Amino acid sequence: MQTFVTDSPEEAAGYLNRGETVAFPTETVYGLGADVFNPDSIAGIFTAKGRPSDNPLIVHVQNPERISEVAGEINGAARLLIEKFFPGPLTIVLKKNRSVPDIVSAGLPTVGVRCPSHPVASAFLGFCNHPVAAPSANVSGRPSSTDWKTVYHDLGGKIDCLLRGEQSTIGLESTIVDCSVNPPLLLRSGAVSIESLRELLPEMKIATSCMPGEAPKSPGMKYRHYSPEALIVLVESPPPSFPEGEPSAWIGLSATPEGAVQALRCKSPEEYARVLFGFFRTCDAHGIRRIYCELPPEEGIGRAIRDRLFKAAGD
Ligand code: TXA
Ligand code: MG
Repeated sequence: MQTFVTDSPEEAAGYLNRGETVAFPTETVYGLGADVFNPDSIAGIFTAKGRPSDNPLIVHVQNPERISEVAGEINGAARLLIEKFFPGPLTIVLKKNRSVPDIVSAGLPTVGVRCPSHPVASAFLGFCNHPVAAPSANVSGRPSSTDWKTVYHDLGGKIDCLLRGEQSTIGLESTIVDCSVNPPLLLRSGAVSIESLRELLPEMKIATSCMPGEAPKSPGMKYRHYSPEALIVLVESPPPSFPEGEPSAWIGLSATPEGAVQALRCKSPEEYARVLFGFFRTCDAHGIRRIYCELPPEEGIGRAIRDRLFKAAGD
């Protein structure tokens, strides 16, 4: 299969409307999309990614009015979240409409819905006839793609079209809140922090899947995730030195220790989030064996960074 690369949201939507798979930029990470109502196209996503079929997909809509095309009743908690955080890096899980094929929801009675704020994503979704089911645009188990070249590296030749855009500004996948249960449940941390969610919904609970080492609640949580080839070493502060003979890398907020072959000192947790997955891939390209990652404070987006680091480390 040849992958057509374009800068035109309208052209990319043409591919999608004809039943083909299209990767597109969003503010969190790149997505690999297909028409939510076309099970054959959706199957193409699972094949291209090598994704297990019991892992449901998030459905993307251009604006909140279109949520009713895939979800049933929108309850009070969901309404509050939509008003405050849509469009943006938040996915809400709702009871699904019967029109949503089982391959999208992996047989669950619910569907995850997100409305991206990225202008190219928004234009693209506006040209699509139906909502767009899309997981992150990476080979299953690898770090999510935050730029179009990485999407091409992972999926070139396996997908029909790639809509090219800028690097994702957030760099980590959306926050997921399950609104089909009462009280609402945080399933995955992201740029919309638990602190800001609880300002709106103080009763919100945090799923144990968001806690390192705990059993999965969201189907996607049980798989090895976000992993580079190198061994991930989690540290609270920089090590005094790196082991001899093994090329090592450093990423964190503190000053870089001596002897790192690759290193990134981030000015803020936001920058850390934006560059993390790209850094993992750079390290792989340079044959790094160990990546020392500094755990940021557990607040704001720091919670999401910690979550991805623990998962990448295989916890
Ligand atoms: O930022 C994002 O969310 C990106 C962009 C492309 O929108 N998408 C993304 O998709 O990260 P993916 O497939 O890599 O992760 C989706 C996660 C999985 O862990 C999946 O299990 C969970 O969402 N999920 C999807 N539908 C669900 C549902 N109905 N109930 C519980 N979890 C669900
Ligand atoms: Mg993913």
